[in-house]
Amino acid sequence: MGVSPHVTKTHTKNQYKACHLQFGPNPSFVLKIQVGSLLLCRTYITCQLTMPMTNKEVKSLYRERFDPVQYHTTYYSNLDKEVEFFLTNIHSTLLKEKFNEGKRCLEIGSGPTVHSLISASHHFDTLVSSDYTEKNREEIRKWLNKDAQALDWTIFFRFVANMEKFSDLDEGVRILEERLRRKLKNVSFCDVFDSIPLNYKEAPFDVIITSLCLEFAACDWSSYVQALKNIAALLRVGGGIIMVGALNNTFYYVNDEIFPSLKLDQPMIQKAMTLAGFQGFEWKILERQVIEGKPTDHDGCFCVSAIKM
Ligand SMILES: C[S@@+](CC[C@H](N)C(=O)[O-])C[C@H]1O[C@@H](n2cnc3c(N)ncnc32)[C@H](O)[C@@H]1O
Repeated sequence: MGVSPHVTKTHTKNQYKACHLQFGPNPSFVLKIQVGSLLLCRTYITCQLTMPMTNKEVKSLYRERFDPVQYHTTYYSNLDKEVEFFLTNIHSTLLKEKFNEGKRCLEIGSGPTVHSLISASHHFDTLVSSDYTEKNREEIRKWLNKDAQALDWTIFFRFVANMEKFSDLDEGVRILEERLRRKLKNVSFCDVFDSIPLNYKEAPFDVIITSLCLEFAACDWSSYVQALKNIAALLRVGGGIIMVGALNNTFYYVNDEIFPSLKLDQPMIQKAMTLAGFQGFEWKILERQVIEGKPTDHDGCFCVSAIKM
């Protein structure tokens, strides 16, 4: 798209607290984003009075306030350039031999989504999704069971079908959906702060994929590093991690609910991964592409892959 946006005003945890003191129980915040000469402003109303400050509070926020259907509506009702970037890079990383050897692949913090595992279903016999909240895991099970109320991921399957060079994309979608349903063997509880985050007999895994999870789960640097160490323990030595996420993000909204994010740049992420025992980093970075309709303050997206030493 070639735009080079920068966020002219963001809200830190302290600013949210200040807004609460200033405006009372229903504060509103104006998000202003400059795109060239265009200044986009949007006002968000939130009933979330203070930002959670501990990992435990973040977990209860997800348990009590995260609405999987609204999340899908806000971030996945169309396929934007940033999600295309994630899917393209997951797909191309998995084509490398060291990332497609073995049989088992785990996604950490899947939320209600299945799209990050579509390419993996080409390479692995056993796929496992995982998330902290039951509501999210239930949405994935609905999709697996072809429930009439299940979330729709068709456009994402279509995009991967195109990368897999299906000439008939409708047929490609059907084949890939069936392949993922057949290979996704388990939707597990996961808490990245547990020393063993997942109780699943198939561990260790050959590859771990995680999308937009750890920076949203961890409230500080040391917890972020610890979460990476905990998930690294689920991976065999020589196994690969593919992590996609948001750079320098401090919050995102799902409707009127605000969720915090740990602000991280590329060197910080690589340092944390090194401390967790990963090496052989390959990075792809994309500056922010999507402004309208994406209520977050990230300034870029990343895909990093690495190997557990
Ligand atoms: C922003 S959503 C990302 C969902 C999905 N991976 C995606 O790419 O859209 C963050 C996810 O992290 C999960 N999460 C938060 N804290 C967690 C924890 N301690 N352990 C595991 N997952 C957690 C939430 O339940 C939520 O599904």
